[in-house]
Amino acid sequence: MIITIDGPAAAGKGTLAAKLSAKYDLAYFDTGMTYRAVGLAMTLDGKDLQDEALAEDYAKHLTFEQMHALSKNPAFRSSKNGVAASIVSAMPKVRAALLKMQQDFALSPVFADGSKAKGAIYDGRDTGTVVCPQADFKFFVTASPEVRAQRRYKELQEKGQDTPYAEVLSDIIARDERDRTRSTAPLKPAPDAIIMDTSNLDIEAVVKKAMELIDAKR
Ligand code: DC
Repeated sequence: MIITIDGPAAAGKGTLAAKLSAKYDLAYFDTGMTYRAVGLAMTLDGKDLQDEALAEDYAKHLTFEQMHALSKNPAFRSSKNGVAASIVSAMPKVRAALLKMQQDFALSPVFADGSKAKGAIYDGRDTGTVVCPQADFKFFVTASPEVRAQRRYKELQEKGQDTPYAEVLSDIIARDERDRTRSTAPLKPAPDAIIMDTSNLDIEAVVKKAMELIDAKR
């Protein structure tokens, strides 16, 4: 079984993916990590994020191992690296270079310890439209920018990162705009995606609804 979960930043995709992955024995691929890895690798090397040919080169050479190693860096999940990821993710050549790595995961999905999974669950912006259009279930999870900024702000505070709320909100709005308006794979629901707005729903209710839909169809 393949499940895709797309939507804007901090809408609750990761939490939903983790719950569904545990319940249905699915290996999880957070595709945003591929863009964050390219963004962070370039930043650490002091490279210009606007240089598309260079970003493509970093993307072409990215491996799962490197991506996981970079994800241990405290800057990986920072707001600043989210902006870096968003910049490189708007580049068609970077997207093309990372697509195979993303698609191959569904062919033989494995957990972090190397054991086989019963399928894959993807989270990202275009996983139901471009990466896995053949997925069995597609969800598009969304919420208002203010609700998402509040969630991200709380997460950052818990991690001891003192980014002001206004900055978190303006980053989210700028990233939404870039993700929605880019020419390649813009953020939009697949025609057959189930849309879930989490602005006024707590995540447990969203998880319950998703599981009911999956169980009813299986
Ligand atoms: O989900 P995230 O915040 O880790 O994503 C980082 C950036 O990568 C975000 O600006 C959008 C981009 N992204 C994308 O374009 N396509 C994906 N499938 C996943 C993420």
